[in-house]
Amino acid sequence: MSNLETPTNIRSFTDQPLAERFLATRQMSIEIASPLSSEDMQLQSIPDASPIKWHLAHTTWAFETFILKPLLPDYSEFHPHFEYLFNSYYNAIGKQFGRAKRGLLSRPTIDEVNQYRQYVDSAMVNWLTQLEPLSKSSDEHIQACDLLLLLINHEQQHQELMLTDIQHAFSINPLNPTYRATATIIHQSSSLNWQSFDPGLVQIGHQNEPFYFDNEGPAHQFFIAPFKIATRLISCGEYLDFIEQGGYQEASYWLSEAWKKINENNLIAPLYWKKQQGKWFQFTLAGLQPLDLNAPVSSINYFEATAYANSVGKRLPSEQEWEIAARAVKLHGHFYQQQALSPSASHDNSRKNELQQMFGELWQWTSSSYNAYPGFKPREGAIGEYNGKFMVNQYVLRGGSFASQHGHLRASYRNFFYPDAAWQYTGIRLAESL
Ligand SMILES: [Fe+2]
Repeated sequence: MSNLETPTNIRSFTDQPLAERFLATRQMSIEIASPLSSEDMQLQSIPDASPIKWHLAHTTWAFETFILKPLLPDYSEFHPHFEYLFNSYYNAIGKQFGRAKRGLLSRPTIDEVNQYRQYVDSAMVNWLTQLEPLSKSSDEHIQACDLLLLLINHEQQHQELMLTDIQHAFSINPLNPTYRATATIIHQSSSLNWQSFDPGLVQIGHQNEPFYFDNEGPAHQFFIAPFKIATRLISCGEYLDFIEQGGYQEASYWLSEAWKKINENNLIAPLYWKKQQGKWFQFTLAGLQPLDLNAPVSSINYFEATAYANSVGKRLPSEQEWEIAARAVKLHGHFYQQQALSPSASHDNSRKNELQQMFGELWQWTSSSYNAYPGFKPREGAIGEYNGKFMVNQYVLRGGSFASQHGHLRASYRNFFYPDAAWQYTGIRLAESL
């Protein structure tokens, strides 16, 4: 194995039949797309978001490009132009169709994309079935599992993007389309408390879990100063107070770049908030809903998160502070596979002094720029373009959201977005130096 950051305990993954795990992930993408019409699956509302049809094809392209073509000498590609159409950003593979124009690809049709998926799935299952009898400690088996796990996790990332992207596309439509109706949940919110952490030398990065992305390593030591972190996320009610107290009109709260955007675009509230006849609503996967004051404020960009923190005299946690805090709690949350369509409020006042909502509610902005850890080396080959080349001008988010797949998250998981990106399921957790 050439990659220094290859998980060493990959064998625990191989206890589950490979084809079974592969097919379960592939089926989840189809389930996520199932409430949508062909017309819905064609929509691209912003250059950053992709059509559902493109996500379904691109995740298939990844298995074809990184496994079937290089590892199966007899494999014939499904279509000679798909390598170009569905390559997202891998320059080592070749040129790519323009990201902002993905919504213009009316062909292939969704039926053809589904045929593409079935063709690749069939070849993958054949390959995995042949792989199964090999010794699990053989280089061939370990290398295959490494690639398979990476591409399964890749498709899971796109599953979350399918939800964020269709929500954004629907939010443009005055008919306020519903991805899926849900029962109204009455949230209660617990009081916001703080948990303190002592200074010291801590271990940051992956801990040899069955899978981790290359950007989570190398694991390394980091000196952390004493800090405290909020026990829950900031609620819509708290963010509404910020708005009503003139938060979007107070220059001192905002970074200069943000202040310019606010004034150029007359911004007064988060992306999905709409005021109608004096009442606030929020656009969600379940359509336009009355703003739930107890639910965590969602689809907030980095600029808004920092401005809110400034307004209350706090700050965002660094990614290292967040990770140390997260290691103190169990990895449980409120994930897509439990049919969640929005983040849930922290309501357990009996646990008000414990950290809540760390995983599986909203990705939490940190104050940390997305950079390489000391000694970081991207994976070799084209797949090395997965994470490393994006380490500029973005900020790290931690924790995962209600739209993340269960089993996909870790305390060391590093998501990253540009500071003005708001269409993801992102929220605010505060911190303070001691
Ligand atoms: Fe991708």
